[in-house]
Order: sequence, then structure tokens, then C-alpha cells
Amino acid sequence: MSSGWHIREQKLDGLDGDVLRACNDLDNALRRERDPDEPAVAPATTRAELDGAEAGYDRRIWIAWSSDAESEALAWCLLDIAPAENAHLVELYIDVHPEHRRRGIGRALLREAVDVCRAESRTTVVLWTVDRVPAGAEFVRRIGAEPAQEERESRLYLDAVDRELVREWCDIADQLAGRYEPWWVDGAYPPAAYGRIAEADAVMNTAPRGDVTMNDLKWTAERVAERDERFLRGPFDRWTLFARERATGRLVALTRVLLDPSRPHLVQQEDTAVHPDHRGQGIGKWIKAAMIDRILTERPEARYIATGNAYSNAPMLAINDGLGFRVDRSNTYWEVPVARLLSYLSENH
Ligand SMILES: CC(C)(COP(=O)(O)OP(=O)(O)OC[C@H]1O[C@@H](n2cnc3c(N)ncnc32)[C@H](O)[C@@H]1OP(=O)(O)O)[C@@H](O)C(=O)NCCC(=O)NCCS
Repeated sequence: MSSGWHIREQKLDGLDGDVLRACNDLDNALRRERDPDEPAVAPATTRAELDGAEAGYDRRIWIAWSSDAESEALAWCLLDIAPAENAHLVELYIDVHPEHRRRGIGRALLREAVDVCRAESRTTVVLWTVDRVPAGAEFVRRIGAEPAQEERESRLYLDAVDRELVREWCDIADQLAGRYEPWWVDGAYPPAAYGRIAEADAVMNTAPRGDVTMNDLKWTAERVAERDERFLRGPFDRWTLFARERATGRLVALTRVLLDPSRPHLVQQEDTAVHPDHRGQGIGKWIKAAMIDRILTERPEARYIATGNAYSNAPMLAINDGLGFRVDRSNTYWEVPVARLLSYLSENH
């Protein structure tokens, strides 16, 4: 066991060499705890996830280094400072290596984050825990957070997919062909379409947010560009299927997956959204099925698709359950006022 640690802020442009190797070791220890059967991830995946703030957010990173072994990262803390439409909010992720918990490292990292909240006049912190690691919920309860939304992560195992159903839902495209056409984009988006894509991304604001006090994200062409800059720095492939309304050229629906070359068995489902004016016609079923059909054809090495949804998101769950997604774990979003964190930090330590 290490006798001590010290915390340093980490800039993204120094996240390479020994620093990245240490972060990758920490990342894989955390992942083994959540998913003992999954293979380790490559350093490029760790880097992309540390560089993975949502567009418009400003991310700060601290690492707790072992004082015994300079190259051993014991914990990290990611603080995402929300853009102007959520000027009250930060999102906070603290992860301590399973062998170094209950020694005050989480609290010390929290103190760094709270200092920034005060400097940035932020009043509210959102945190996230997964049920497979009960220490997370114990910690966030101790610091005064309240649950704000329950989510489920589910998986669709591709060897068990009902291919007939997928075919049937893909065929909805033919019934809707007079009004909508599919538009596939692999990798980065064409800059000329950023404005239209921002409109499609904004539909994600209609997904339930439970008691999280978050205002709608303002999607703009600039934010789409920023997300793509980040995406292009990482190792992932990305497939997006949009439904385009022929008469207007508007992108009224989208579904997007990420593919990690170092984990070909896994397809990570990202956003799926259909504009409220265009719901009730089967577009959601069609685009999800078309994506699965493509994965089956072009990615035979993929074993499952993983996706996360709020338990309250009935329309999305109906589609996912219909396709055969099965719940694998639950996650919780928590919220806590910065004032409450200040009193926790000052009362006890
Ligand atoms: C949550 C986590 C970051 C806590 O880190 P840690 O270094 O063990 O926490 P600390 O030792 O600083 O403990 C801080 C306080 O939480 C309490 N606490 C931490 N883990 C606890 C547990 N498993 N059960 C009960 N209390 C716990 C401590 O007793 C301490 O309380 P105190 O201030 O009254 O002494 C760590 O367990 C972890 O990495 N979990 C996985 C990631 C995660 O779920 N993060 C959620 C926060 S974003």
C-alpha cells in the first residue's frame, strides 16, 4: 500500500507517454471492477474518454498520484463545467482505484472540484454512479447528494437478434419513402450540414431528465464542429443514420453508434431521437433496425450493442425491448448543492 498521494491538475495536451500509461492502468482497474469479463481497453480509448466532454462543456481533470510510485495513478476527477444555458451546473466524475479507497482520496478530489465551483459561481453538482459499484452510492449519499434520475444500461446480443423483425422494421423505410429518405454519415460530418445536424441533436432535449435541474442544451453549428474536432482526435469510428424530410431537407431523426477498433465485440449505441412532429409513424423503429442490419452485415465480429436509457423513457424502451435489448445494470444520476458540499467539507475535515 502507498503511504500517501498528491494531486495534480492534468492538461489534455500532456496526456501521453507515462501519464497516459498510468491513466490507462487506472481505467482498466476501474473497468475490471464493473465488467470482469471484458478485455482491457487501449490507451487511445482511455485518452478519448478523458477528452470526452460534451461539446460546449469545459473539462478540468485532476489525478491523484502515488507518492511511493510516481508513475501510479490512484484516482482521477473530471469536472465538466456546463455552458451558459446551464450556468448553475457542473458534472463531476470521481473514480478511485478499488485498492486505494476509504483513505480520503475521493474527498480530497472533491475539494479541488468544489474550489472550482466557487470560483465559477456554480451552485449545483451532478454525479453519476453504477449499481455494480455500491461504494459510489455510499460516497455520494455521504456527501449529501439526492437521486435525480434512474437509468438502465441494456444489451442486445447479436447472435440472438430476431432477424425477421429487423427486416420488417427496416421495411418501414419503403412505406415512408415518399416523405423521408435515409442519410448515412460515417465518421465526421460535412461542415455544410452542421446547422441541420444541430437541429437534429437538439431533439435529444426531449429525452426525460428526471429531477436533474438541467436546462435544454443549445445545439449550434459551432458545437457540432467542436464535437467533431474531439471525435477526430480519438480512435473511434462513428456511424450516423439520419432521416431526412424530402420536402424541407430537415433532419428529423437520427441514430448514432460508436465503434472502438480495440473492442470489436462491442457497439456503443449513442443518441437516438425523432422530432416530436414526426413521431408515431415508425421512424424510430426503422432507423434502429437499419443500424442493426448494417452492424450484422458489416461487423460480424460485433457480439452486442450496449445502450443507456432513463427508466422513464417509455417510447425508447418500447423500441429497445421490442428489439430484444435486456437490462444489464442500473445507473443513477444524483444532484447536490455546492453549499451542501462546502458544509460537508468544512464540518468533517
Ligand atoms: C466513490 C469513491 C470515489 C469514493 O472514494 P474514496 O477515496 O474511497 O472516498 P473517501 O475515502 O474520500 O471517503 C469520503 C467519505 O465517503 C465515505 N465513504 C466512501 N466510500 C464509502 C463506502 N463504501 N461506504 C460508506 N461510506 C463511504 C467515507 O467514509 C468518507 O466519509 P467521512 O467524510 O465521513 O469520513 C470510490 O468508491 C469510487 O471510485 N467508486 C467508483 C466510482 C464512483 O461510483 N464514483 C461516484 C462519484 S462520481
